[in-house]
Amino acid sequence: MTNLWRPDFAQTSGPLFERVLGALVGDIQKGILPPGTRLPPQRELALATGISLGTVTRAYAEAERRGLVHAHVGRGSYVADGGAPVLATSDGPIDLCHNIPPNGPARAEIRRLAQALSSQSAFAELLDYTPVFGLDAHRAAMADWLIQHAGMENAHARSAILSGGTQQAMALAHGAVARPGDVVLCENLTFYGMRALADFAGYRLYGVKMDEQGLCPEALDRAARKTEARVIYVLPTLQNPTARIMGASRRAAIVEVARRHDLWIIEDDVYGYFGKSHPGYVPLSVLAPERSFYLGGLSKILAPGLRVGFVVPPTGGRHNDLIARQLRATTYTANGLGAAVVAHAIRSGLADQIAENVLTEARERLMLAKEMLGAAVEISAVDSALHVWAPLSELAAERVAGRTLRHGVEVTPPGSANVGEGPSGLRLCLGGAQSRDQLRHALQIVADALGQGDERIASSIV
Ligand SMILES: Cc1ncc(COP(=O)(O)O)c(C=O)c1O
Repeated sequence: MTNLWRPDFAQTSGPLFERVLGALVGDIQKGILPPGTRLPPQRELALATGISLGTVTRAYAEAERRGLVHAHVGRGSYVADGGAPVLATSDGPIDLCHNIPPNGPARAEIRRLAQALSSQSAFAELLDYTPVFGLDAHRAAMADWLIQHAGMENAHARSAILSGGTQQAMALAHGAVARPGDVVLCENLTFYGMRALADFAGYRLYGVKMDEQGLCPEALDRAARKTEARVIYVLPTLQNPTARIMGASRRAAIVEVARRHDLWIIEDDVYGYFGKSHPGYVPLSVLAPERSFYLGGLSKILAPGLRVGFVVPPTGGRHNDLIARQLRATTYTANGLGAAVVAHAIRSGLADQIAENVLTEARERLMLAKEMLGAAVEISAVDSALHVWAPLSELAAERVAGRTLRHGVEVTPPGSANVGEGPSGLRLCLGGAQSRDQLRHALQIVADALGQGDERIASSIV
């Protein structure tokens, strides 16, 4: 009998392959496709949906690689019999995939603050276009936050240009110093959003070797010499995905190499708040303000939906015009409403209060991860982080990700951080689980998946 399963991806976005795969994985998770179900033949599905055969084949192959589907030559593809999927929440898998703050309770406070804001007379101003870099009062609040938490003593009221999250700040900074086709150096495992930006804007990412403190200065020196690149995108503090942190001398060495090769440094410090207790913490942008773009935002502390980030460009203001032109061409101005919420949270002390709570919760969650996963995850240099890194071979990472998903836990897709040849592993995000109990449950599933079969932890640092 012809199987009638069809991917329902009307509400999804992204490349078609990912949408088909997402629909397939989702339906397996929800039990709509129980173990043993025969999937429609690829050609039939392609014909029925108008999706190309190549896309369907790729989605099936990826599902098979993750252990969710078995293909039998001549008989077709079947949902793997990994036991009935355990749904951890009625909303779907437990989220160890997205780096979001564990601040459910704080959301009510942010909502109250937004409500209070809407009853103020100044609210009307927020409904107009703001100046392109944001309202002065909002920029000044952000500058104070940077002085207080990022050691940017020289920040002044107009240092920070407000952006739609750190992601837009990345686009603005790169757009100011790189052109399509240019090489951008980065760690050989990097934030997926940087890969997305490079892919879209046409930058050629060149992965640079890391060690236990992140980016290696000698490797950066070699890469800069070899590629003649002008730009490095770097995460010195709680690197994504590895959670590594540069010590003070490492930071000085990176700056020295950047100066020698006249590199623009694009420093993403979105996790700086969690790493600032490290004795070596000082932004590269403080060490080399003449060549650094300092980027960050409040997504990891308050709420990602506010879409508030910033870029502090190198001193001298020569990039402001290019940044302004990009803003005008994309969002026209900064997001006044989101910035107002953030500025009020900073001025009222609520941002500090929430940040402290998030830090404490992240500390507890990190402790739990260390306790439950032991040597499988790298030891972090600070006691509070939103993600941990489990070094694994590529194949092992894929298998573990597939096993956890079958049991209701979604981890970041392996391979999403790779830039060229380099280490592999799994990033586990600790903030997305709804509670510590749920996180414990999810980590147990990860621990079981790690312990099964032939998965051995690769050497801890590469
Ligand atoms: C390293 C890094 N940079 C930037 C971002 C994007 O953050 P935002 O929500 O501020 O755009 C993230 C989000 O996960 C991130 O991990």
